[in-house]
Amino acid sequence: MLVSAKEMLEKAKAGHYAVGQFNINNLEWTKSILAAAQEMNSPVILGVSEGAGKYMTGFKTVVGMVNGMLEEMKITVPVALQLDHGSYEGCMKCIEAGFSSIMYDGSHSPIDENVANTTELVKICAEKGMSLEAEVGAIGGEEDGVVGKGECADPEECKRIADLGVTMLAAGIGNIHGKYPANWEGLSFETLDAIQKLTGDMPLVLHGGTGIPDDMIKKAISLGVAKINVNTECQIAFAEATRKYIEEGKDLQGKGFDPRKLLAPGAAAIKATVIEKIELFGSKDKA
Ligand code: 13P
Repeated sequence: MLVSAKEMLEKAKAGHYAVGQFNINNLEWTKSILAAAQEMNSPVILGVSEGAGKYMTGFKTVVGMVNGMLEEMKITVPVALQLDHGSYEGCMKCIEAGFSSIMYDGSHSPIDENVANTTELVKICAEKGMSLEAEVGAIGGEEDGVVGKGECADPEECKRIADLGVTMLAAGIGNIHGKYPANWEGLSFETLDAIQKLTGDMPLVLHGGTGIPDDMIKKAISLGVAKINVNTECQIAFAEATRKYIEEGKDLQGKGFDPRKLLAPGAAAIKATVIEKIELFGSKDKA
């Protein structure tokens, strides 16, 4: 059964480790991430962007697939299914479809509008026993066509949103989605420290987990990050393994064209990536 992300993140914040959120795109992604989490005895969050939801034909399909897998794969570790960077309308759709967690990304709106919409969603999520992530300070890079600049959030605004009663808070600290450019200046630990000082026990969320050096990840966790989102890294691992399979001509040998064979190396690469991240984030055996 899907669970809210609240308990797993409160435990992570108190225990000084982070739970990974890995984005899903299809059956192979979901199966690989769930298998990795189960094998590592780690809680996990499956992230679904609005674009990925659309790709999978809609949020109801996603809920049906994930719930089916939890049962058929006999998954016993805590799993949350979360909308990633949702609009207000997207959040409402996911609540209706049976997600256990949502992220409302009001970071592109004026702070008062962000506060108003987040307040409304706090009420609804509390009634439904769902967790809610809010965002302050746009996270740079491109995600589903939404481009941000990699800002640093204003710690006072973070406190304002945290005090509304959200479960976890994403704040821009110079992180960006996708690959980091060569001239990236790194995470702003000064900003993160200031945010944690004002928001106390609130689990903080680090987006753009792909390509952040291990030592920065560990430092971010020590400063209150309890959830780390990874998406692009699984996509790159999948594409590399699939390219290798095709370049080696394996699809032309025997029944190598069978999708179950063709997609197997990519799926294994996603699983290996997730296992590596779970080790790094410290959530192994924290189920
Ligand atoms: P990356 O694609 O950079 O790993 O970022 C993922 C993310 O933050 C999803 O919200």
